[in-house]
Amino acid sequence: MCGIIGYIGEIHATDGGVTGEAADDDTPGSVGEIVHRGLKNLEYRGYDSAGVALVGAASGLTVAKRSGEVGALSVPDVPDATLGVGHTRWSTHGPPTDANAHPHTDCVGDVAVVHNGIVENYEALKRELSDHEFTSETDTEVIPHLIEEELTGVDGDGDADLLAAVRRVEDRLEGSYAICAVREGDDRIVVARRGSPLVLGRGEDAAFVASDVTAFLEHTRDVTYLEDGDVAALSPDGVEIFASGEPVERETETVTWEADAAEKGGYEHYMRKEIHEQPESLRQTLAGRLDVDGGDVDLDVSFPPGFLADLEEIRIVACGTSYYAGRYAAQLFEELAGVRATVEIASEYEFGAGRTPDRTLVVAVTQSGETADTLGAVRRANAAGARTFAVTNTLGSTVTREVDGTAFIRAGPEIGVAATKTFASQVATLAMLAVAVGRDRGALAAADARSVLEDLQGLPGAVQQVLDEEKQVREAAREYRDSEAFFFVGRALGVPVALEGALKLKEISYDHAEGFAAGELKHGPLALVTPDTPVLAVLTDGARADETMNNVTEAQTRGAPALGCVSAGEEFGTLDVSFEVPDVGVVEPLVANVYLQLFAYHVANEKGRSIDKPRNLAKSVTVE
Ligand code: M6R
Repeated sequence: MCGIIGYIGEIHATDGGVTGEAADDDTPGSVGEIVHRGLKNLEYRGYDSAGVALVGAASGLTVAKRSGEVGALSVPDVPDATLGVGHTRWSTHGPPTDANAHPHTDCVGDVAVVHNGIVENYEALKRELSDHEFTSETDTEVIPHLIEEELTGVDGDGDADLLAAVRRVEDRLEGSYAICAVREGDDRIVVARRGSPLVLGRGEDAAFVASDVTAFLEHTRDVTYLEDGDVAALSPDGVEIFASGEPVERETETVTWEADAAEKGGYEHYMRKEIHEQPESLRQTLAGRLDVDGGDVDLDVSFPPGFLADLEEIRIVACGTSYYAGRYAAQLFEELAGVRATVEIASEYEFGAGRTPDRTLVVAVTQSGETADTLGAVRRANAAGARTFAVTNTLGSTVTREVDGTAFIRAGPEIGVAATKTFASQVATLAMLAVAVGRDRGALAAADARSVLEDLQGLPGAVQQVLDEEKQVREAAREYRDSEAFFFVGRALGVPVALEGALKLKEISYDHAEGFAAGELKHGPLALVTPDTPVLAVLTDGARADETMNNVTEAQTRGAPALGCVSAGEEFGTLDVSFEVPDVGVVEPLVANVYLQLFAYHVANEKGRSIDKPRNLAKSVTVE
């Protein structure tokens, strides 16, 4: 997830709008300053590197970029610039270096592009562009070179202007993207969107484009959301939008949020925003990695020859939410990869006797890559001579430097202390790893792999369907918010989700919440059940729903209200509340988890808790 912004217009900033007569001390005095300020507002989307491209009639195209946060970027003074684009990066392809920072340019430095998303077929395109000079390791850089081909006629017919060139290039890109392209000698910003957000801001004599309205809200509140497939040209004459090559009108609406809410994209809390980002973050997690037809995945990771075939055990080490992602994944490794898989709380992990280091893979799951307990476990595994692997969200984090291989979950920055979108992306990444290992070991037939990959492909859409039901969850949260305690139950893949649901609720609402394997209720916890202790159950595919419902009924018999996440088309008539989970097979429990995230959020919100920064907790726990 990266942040992009573009601005074109007159510079006479006044309070409340870009256009007008005079600027006060706090208002930006140049295109570069407007773009730079927009990037600061977008930094929540990534902060690995930042850059701008400015275009002026006399000065031509000026590009400045560097690794590090937006504040570290010195924006050049280009007094005649009338338009500019900027980018703040969350690295996916290539480490956070100066060279990998956006904007990226063509061979001659006439065209500059900023991009959010992933170009899935960039390697194939790069091979086709073998006579071009590439200077970065990014997927993005193919875009300015493809535009160059169109503009110079090397590949296209050479009569394309920037708008036509972007349209043609867009046809060749696979994946999800939002792009802004500028060109020396051209007074337009050309933008395109497919799968990644892009919104236009309409000012008087000025226009903006950005990943999020937050970028330009200090200048204009009139916005137009572009739709997938839209291409638009922002020029001194206004904004033109095209869909399938034809001009289209898109509605302009007025944003009513206040500045504070704007930082959170209009949501009151980062946590709720991050819950709602899951369709986008999951798309990024999966982008370019699924070969559904071939029944395989490309995670860009490798193991020594024969290592996976001889593998005796996968040991997952992690803490908190990442530990529950590990528990989900362990079941997938056993089922899909035919290998024994265990999960250990990182602070409790020791290599232990009776195991063979060179036939063991220790997988550290950590969003931050900095959790001291998890790093300690990795060091103990390394010391024992085991092969180590990390699944993390954070490029360049400590864990990535200490393991033998890494898969990035690509969820984008998560600011709320409660992990939400990163849990979903961890499980999705681990599921892909399980398929890759299963295929490599010959334990998973192509047809079975295809079915899992189809489930994964359906994940972003299924999560969106759950998010669309938020009102129902809010009502349930209002009804049960004052309960004495909450119990979460499930079986099989429903167990880690029940544990995660309970952790989320206790963490942000401070209510007593516990998760159990449903079958365990009757072995003790049932003594705690009363009419004032709702039971929330995972009753989906992959979670042995009928057996779980038997245990729920045992609790109901003792008076407990019951809320269930139920597979579409199934029905458990005695539930007090039933949340419908779309049909996505092996990842249905993961989709059910989105209901539990929303439930936790709304209970905590009803109680006015400090949701993004719960008491006594920190986002990254760097002490053992
Ligand atoms: O960065 P990590 O994934 O290693 O963090 C592990 C836990 O501290 C973390 O998941 C914690 O449990 C979350 N705050 C839960 O929402």
